Amino acid sequence: MEQISTIQVTGTGSFLPDSVLTNQDLEKMVDTSDEWIITRTGISERRIAKNGLTTSDMAAMAAQKALEKAGRKPEEIDVIIVATVTSDYMFPSTACLVQKKIGAVNAAAFDLSAACSGFLYALISGFAYINSGCYKNVLIIGAESLSKITDWTDRSTCVLFGDGAGAVVLEQNNISNATKVLYKCLGADGSGSYMLEVPAGGTAKPASAETVNNREHYIKMKGNELYKWAVNKMKDLVEESIVKSGISCEDIKYIIPHQVNIRIIEGALKRLNIPIEKVIINLDRYGNTSSASIPIALDELNRNGNLKKGDIIVLVAFGSGLTWAACTLKW
Ligand code: ACO
Repeated sequence: MEQISTIQVTGTGSFLPDSVLTNQDLEKMVDTSDEWIITRTGISERRIAKNGLTTSDMAAMAAQKALEKAGRKPEEIDVIIVATVTSDYMFPSTACLVQKKIGAVNAAAFDLSAACSGFLYALISGFAYINSGCYKNVLIIGAESLSKITDWTDRSTCVLFGDGAGAVVLEQNNISNATKVLYKCLGADGSGSYMLEVPAGGTAKPASAETVNNREHYIKMKGNELYKWAVNKMKDLVEESIVKSGISCEDIKYIIPHQVNIRIIEGALKRLNIPIEKVIINLDRYGNTSSASIPIALDELNRNGNLKKGDIIVLVAFGSGLTWAACTLKW
């Protein structure tokens, strides 16, 4: 069992836009139904960033709440990592915009692109910065405005996604009851990159009248293929997390999976005989918010008082790239 006793998650925060888009609203936009969406995905509604609200705005608001909870001033932060696939601009990074918005004048700042696994990639990078002695106070954010890259005429994808942001403050801490990282893993398989992508707007296919007409600046997804991969990957990640953390299923207080689709989550857990009661679900309210989904769920759990010192939680994520990540924490 891997034990690192120098890290403390001292604060969590999240931000969800006020504007709610329900399944009933979607019924008026595309040929779908509330019943189809709930049965196939578990999603009832999602939040949409409107009126110029950007990814960096949401990230900054989640970060401010996490800093408040941690009792840290923005200028005490050494580095900001923003996991996102919906940055405000191609460049500068969203992290730099967040740095300015929250006044973290002493922080280095950069974005990390690992799609739905982005938050865990950033979190594990944050652990590495602290363990190496490079930085003491690290701000990790997952933030997405997926509504801006969703094709609202495509019923096979537009029912799935939502907007939001979540953040955590990590600190170097040598006290004996600091958060313990019992296990962590990152992985990728670029051969599956075609399964979930935005085809145009990058250097492979720069924006042109043709790419706009072909709607290539929106999310394209091989839903069925991704579904099968995601069920197996989530099952493997949870199984490995249990074995390699040196714990049993009973030791786990909560599993916080990427909020992808209730059928994927239930399918994976059924194969492991893990009761769904251990799993934190908020996708019914927010849909799939990619890198923001795990930190939003973590913050809700933390703020409603259900996360206690010593609780063992397993975080698992998987997404475009393909990428995946897992982390077992003793809180
Ligand atoms: N409303 C009504 N009917 C729909 C809708 C909709 N919104 N979308 C698709 N359909 C239709 C299809 O056209 C198809 O009709 P047909 O049989 O007449 O051709 C039928 O429903 C079944 O379509 P499938 O794609 O086979 O539906 P499936 O049961 O696989 O569910 C879904 C689709 C929900 C997208 C599923 O494949 C899925 O969850 N995939 C995983 C992908 C995912 O969640 N991606 C998110 C990002 S990936 C990540 O975060 C890891």
